[in-house]
Amino acid sequence: MNLSRIRDVLLPRPRRDYPLYENDELQMLRKATAFNSQLMDVLREHVRPGITTNELDRLAASYTRDHGHAAACLGYKGFPKSICTSINDVVCHGIPDDTVLQEGDIVNVDITTIVDGWYGDQSETFLVGEVSKEAKALTQVTFDALHVGIRAARPYCTIYDIAKAITRHAEARGYSVVRSYQGHGIGREFHQKPGVPHYPHESTQRSIIVPGCCFTIEPMINIGTPDIYIEPDGWTVRTKDHSLSAQFEHQIFMKADGPEILTLTKQGPQEGHCF
Ligand code: MF3
Ligand code: CO
Ligand code: CO
Repeated sequence: MNLSRIRDVLLPRPRRDYPLYENDELQMLRKATAFNSQLMDVLREHVRPGITTNELDRLAASYTRDHGHAAACLGYKGFPKSICTSINDVVCHGIPDDTVLQEGDIVNVDITTIVDGWYGDQSETFLVGEVSKEAKALTQVTFDALHVGIRAARPYCTIYDIAKAITRHAEARGYSVVRSYQGHGIGREFHQKPGVPHYPHESTQRSIIVPGCCFTIEPMINIGTPDIYIEPDGWTVRTKDHSLSAQFEHQIFMKADGPEILTLTKQGPQEGHCF
């Protein structure tokens, strides 16, 4: 054991390895996330039985372009569409195609926009028409888990604290938390530090969130196993046991007096909502 390792073990120090944003930068983040949330409200009206995920993608692409902004997902590491649409057992990164949304489906719509070089990122799971009570309960637990996580986010808390709150909420109700994908710092880049796992990972115990940090919380919760696989298209992530999976995502800015949810929508479910 070398000296710095001994010091680390005896004197665990908090770690901050991400950029902090100042007031003028917060204004830019607010502008980008406000546009992203507005787009979510536009798509909300169209998430109905009978629409294809390609049609949702085209609506998002044209609305974004018409406002002079850019869809962050389009071309990101080769992703072929402007948004992600993840139906039923798809955990995340579903590629819009000619699939028609059916009554009883649940679909996560994940949108990220670049406005003047700043990123806004959020997602919601929608109930398509009437869904099973299992699907509705999963969606409720996932939505509540996100808000429990946001409540746990305080100035100088750790990422571990947030993950513990989310995992306790989900597992106490018999659900599992996906481990292979996580939330992330965001701002001038799509994905930056800090990494935000939604399960308590030892490495995050000293990862503190200080005022000026901008990040996402985006838990993916499954009815069955937390294990996933990726389809041959290189993107679509599914649950290994094909059980249903849901996700909600907000982008958060940590202020000196607590978190500001940047991606609140006007029309969407608010904390405490009952599906
Ligand atoms: N929006 C996703 C996130 O929350 C990332 C999607 S990347 C893509 O981090 F390439 F699949 F679009
Ligand atoms: Co994200
Ligand atoms: Co996202």
